[in-house]
Amino acid sequence: MAKVAFLGLGVMGYPMAGYLARAGLDTVVYNRTTAKAQAWAEEFGGRHAATPEDAARDADIVFCCVGNDDDVREVILGDNGALSGIAAGGIIVDHTTASATIAREIHALAKERGVGFLDAPVSGGQAGAENGQLTVMVGGDPEIFERAKPVIDSYAKAVTLIGPVGSGQLAKMVNQICIAGLVQGLAEGMNFGLKAGLDMEKVIDVISKGAAQSWQMDNRWQTMVNGEFDFGFAVDWMRKDLGITLAEARSNGARLDLTELVDRYYAEVQALGGNRWDTSSLIARLEQPSRPQDD
Ligand SMILES: NC(=O)c1ccc[n+]([C@@H]2O[C@H](COP(=O)([O-])OP(=O)(O)OC[C@H]3O[C@@H](n4cnc5c(N)ncnc54)[C@H](OP(=O)(O)O)[C@@H]3O)[C@@H](O)[C@H]2O)c1
Repeated sequence: MAKVAFLGLGVMGYPMAGYLARAGLDTVVYNRTTAKAQAWAEEFGGRHAATPEDAARDADIVFCCVGNDDDVREVILGDNGALSGIAAGGIIVDHTTASATIAREIHALAKERGVGFLDAPVSGGQAGAENGQLTVMVGGDPEIFERAKPVIDSYAKAVTLIGPVGSGQLAKMVNQICIAGLVQGLAEGMNFGLKAGLDMEKVIDVISKGAAQSWQMDNRWQTMVNGEFDFGFAVDWMRKDLGITLAEARSNGARLDLTELVDRYYAEVQALGGNRWDTSSLIARLEQPSRPQDD
């Protein structure tokens, strides 16, 4: 039986680790706040370790899903980090949405120790994690990918090797760029329709059957119109992702005119108190009186 470790039992990591245990893998978890690790071990019957290093000690594959670059650095490269515990021949898979730079840094350090590394950010949100239906974008060496994929399949509906290390994170950046502009367009469409006094149910019923259709339209139009923003990926997380993306664009020369603008709009949503609102809350900002510089 393969031995696996999972570091970071947040909204995403907790159910993902649960799928590993349900698949019959010998699973040990680590979480900074121990109470969550204890709750997980009680629910799934696995074990929990005191440090990432301890969790990684006997593991064939160590999975990680924490917040940002600094958190990844801490749990993998820090004192008592996973890289000090894992044996040569093991694999570390990072599901955090982080920079391509940190992925390359860990890959190089892991390689020196004979350990494989994959950057493997996910898409599909909390619901995808809870249903075991995540989409996983992977960067790394093909032979390492082939060994890890059957295990990642435990909580994913699609797992794709995009290219060398860092490519998973870069693909996730493409995903976030596409979402940012689309949600702003949807917010403006909904806001315009309401201001025009249209029956938005009728409008969506017809336009969602045409070229304007999107996942966001199908799943978020109603809650956006109702001003309900408690449906998943938070504005703070989105700004973290867009920050990473804009930094990457500064180095690869890509123009992200719209993404930069939408990032500023999300900062305005934060100023309205929307840090934990979901990303569709861009519509809330449109309810505010326009400022002179917007005219
Ligand atoms: N939520 C989504 O819909 C979604 C979708 C796609 C991708 N993601 C990405 O997935 C990652 C995790 O998201 P999430 O929603 O699961 O976040 P979350 O609920 O805030 O959980 C974060 C986890 O990371 C741990 N952590 C953070 N910093 C740490 C550190 N320095 N050392 C040790 N542990 C640390 C936290 O431990 P504690 O319990 O002690 O705080 C917690 O277990 C993020 O990169 C996010 O962008 C999220």
